Amino acid sequence: MNSAELSVFIRAIGVHAPERKLTNAELSLMVETSDDWIKSRSGISERRIAGPGENPSDMGAKAAAKALERAGLKAEDIDLLIVATMTPDVPFPSTACLLQAKLGLRRDIPCFDISAACSGFVYALQVGTDMMRSGAYRHVLVIGAEKLSSVVDWQDRTTCVLFGDGAGAAILEATNVKRVGILGNVLGADGTNAELLHCVAGGSASPASAETLRDGKHFLRMNGKEVFRLAVRVMAESCERVLAKCGVDSDQVAWFIPHQANIRIVEAVANQLNVGMERFPFNLDRYGNTSAASIPLALEEAWRDGKIKHGDLVLLVAFGAGLTWGATLLRWHEPTL
Ligand code: UT7
Repeated sequence: MNSAELSVFIRAIGVHAPERKLTNAELSLMVETSDDWIKSRSGISERRIAGPGENPSDMGAKAAAKALERAGLKAEDIDLLIVATMTPDVPFPSTACLLQAKLGLRRDIPCFDISAACSGFVYALQVGTDMMRSGAYRHVLVIGAEKLSSVVDWQDRTTCVLFGDGAGAAILEATNVKRVGILGNVLGADGTNAELLHCVAGGSASPASAETLRDGKHFLRMNGKEVFRLAVRVMAESCERVLAKCGVDSDQVAWFIPHQANIRIVEAVANQLNVGMERFPFNLDRYGNTSAASIPLALEEAWRDGKIKHGDLVLLVAFGAGLTWGATLLRWHEPTL
């Protein structure tokens, strides 16, 4: 069989979130905010915060270990590692290389990071799927891992209440079964809107200096209102485009797993698609926005809760800094069933 015709599916998924919970009540002692404001404007009640020395590569390794265990696979079975993150452990080498060493993956496999912010997991899933279809890899590990707490300005109430830390990992496998796993996707970006959500220092354009530190330029800055408006539009459009591409009607989709940024964004997307909120499982209330980790965290929870079942159509949809966006339609496949 032509490897381009292979179906690529998520064989197993694992997640990890730091133990430490930061509640809205605690935040209201740090900045001028309230539980009521945060909950009503975003849907978030608490978020997880990584401890010192608990980095994306550590959280990603724990999530991947769970996925490997669930798949009944060993570290040496992984042929390719892709990590989506906007908060890499260090500027270089890649978090993927650090993770390769921590997980004890084979030393001859390709490992690289993808920088697509909150859309990173959807981007990485597609890159991994397409590389599997080349026929060169049997198992691809895709990880979204973030430590947003390290780039958030804890004195800026407009952003610090929204973000959290965590990681999720998926193992991709190929099968000859037709029309299962990843059925189609759309990805997009608009760099003219880069300044809506960005961090201006710490890269080669503005390396760390006493001035950049003094001016708080290493922190994430966001035009929340504008991001909100664009997020609703691109997420709804991405869903419609991937459904049209795959010839599937929204009624046939069992579960929509959106990037967990703001419950009001999800409600607006659901409304535009004319789909009830009961088909949008969410865990934003307990994790906040974990960027590239948010979709795998929500997907794993919906699967573990017994919502997602063999044969279900599941639509993942994300947007984030860049701006970037993407949607993936998949048919959940459990080969043992
Ligand atoms: O992964 C992508 C990441 N980004 C996003 O998803 C963010 C998208 N945007 C949003 O989620 C929303 O725009 C926010 C949650 C960030 C803000 O909600 P909003 O309804 O757009 O509020 P706003 O920015 O219009 O602010 C309303 C008021 C302002 O006060 P004034 O000017 O009306 O007096 C803010 O200063 O709320 C104030 N405010 C707060 N008050 C209490 C802003 N942040 C807070 C806060 N606590 N944490």
